Amino acid sequence: MTKRTILTTIAAVFSSMFIAAILFAGTTVPDTFNMETKAYEEHTYNPVPFTHKKHVTDYKITCGDCHHDDKGKALTGLKEGDDVQKCIECHKNPGKVEKPKKGEPKLTDKERRQYHAEALHDNCKDCHSEHNKKVKKDTGKNGEAPTSCNKCHPGGKIK
Ligand code: HEC
Ligand code: HEC
Ligand code: HEC
Ligand code: HEC
Repeated sequence: MTKRTILTTIAAVFSSMFIAAILFAGTTVPDTFNMETKAYEEHTYNPVPFTHKKHVTDYKITCGDCHHDDKGKALTGLKEGDDVQKCIECHKNPGKVEKPKKGEPKLTDKERRQYHAEALHDNCKDCHSEHNKKVKKDTGKNGEAPTSCNKCHPGGKIK
C-alpha cells in the first residue's frame, strides 16, 4: 500500500465510525440498575435496585411521571432511546435534609427537594403510597409497591 492509500483507508474507517456514532446516538438505559449516584461522597444506605423497564412496561408508568424539564414540567413527549438528564443535575445536593432542630424554620418542599434523596423519595414513595392505597381500596389486599426503607434499600443502613 502506498502512503496515500493508507491515509485514505484510515479516513474511510474514521468516517464510518462517525456515521455509526450518529446512527446509534441516544442513551440506552439498562432494564434494571442500582441507584447509587456518583456525586455522593459516601452512601449511608445500601443502593436501591430499580426496575426501570418493568416500571414502563409492566406497571405502565409513563416517562413524564419521572422525567421532567428544568421547570419541573413532565417530559410527556419522551420515547424509548431519548436522552434525559440525571436527577442530580438539578436536585444537586447529595443526601437528605436533617430534621430541623427545635425553633428552626422548616424548609419548603421546593427547598427540601434541592436535596437529591428528598426528590427521589418524593418521586418513588409518593407514587408507591398512592398505588398501594388504590390497590387496597379496589381489592382489599395490600399493594406491593415498597414504601419502607429496607424494602428499597436492601439491608437498610450501611454498617
Ligand atoms: C421507594 C424506594 C425508597 C424508599 C422506600 C426509601 N428510599 Fe432512600 N433512596 C431511594 C433512592 C432511589 C435514593 C437515591 C440513591 C442514589 O441515587 O444514590 C435514596 C437515597 C437515600 C439516602 C441518600 C443516600 C445515602 O445512602 O446516604 C438516604 C440517607 C436514604 N435514602 C434513606 C432512606 C430512609 C431512612 C428510608 C426510610 C425512612 C428510605 N430511604 C426509604 C429510594 C428509597
Ligand atoms: C418510574 C420512574 C421512571 C420512568 C417511568 C422512566 N424513567 Fe427513565 N429513569 C428513571 C430514573 C430514576 C433514572 C436514573 C436517573 C439518575 O441516575 O439520576 C432513569 C434513567 C433513565 C435514562 C438514563 C440516563 C443516564 O444518563 O444514565 C434514560 C435514557 C431514561 N431514563 C429514559 C426514559 C424514557 C425514555 C422513559 C419512558 C419510556 C423512562 N425513562 C421512564 C426513572 C424513570
Ligand atoms: C432539568 C432539571 C431537572 C431534572 C433533570 C430533574 N428535576 Fe425534578 N424538578 C426540577 C424542578 C425545577 C422542579 C420544580 C421545583 C420543585 O417542585 O422542587 C422539580 C420537581 C421535582 C419533584 C416535585 C414535583 C413532582 O413532580 O411531584 C420531584 C418529586 C422531582 N422533581 C424528582 C425528580 C427525579 C426523580 C428526577 C430524575 C429522574 C428529576 N427530578 C430530575 C428540575 C429537575
Ligand atoms: C408513578 C408511579 C411510580 C413511580 C414514580 C415509581 N414507582 Fe416503583 N412501583 C410502582 C408500581 C405500580 C409498582 C408495582 C407494585 C405492585 O406490584 O403491586 C412498583 C414497584 C416497585 C418495586 C418492587 C418491584 C420491582 O419491580 O422491583 C421497587 C423496588 C420500586 N418500585 C422502586 C422504585 C424506585 C426506586 C422509584 C424511584 C426512582 C420508583 N419505584 C418510582 C410505581 C411507581
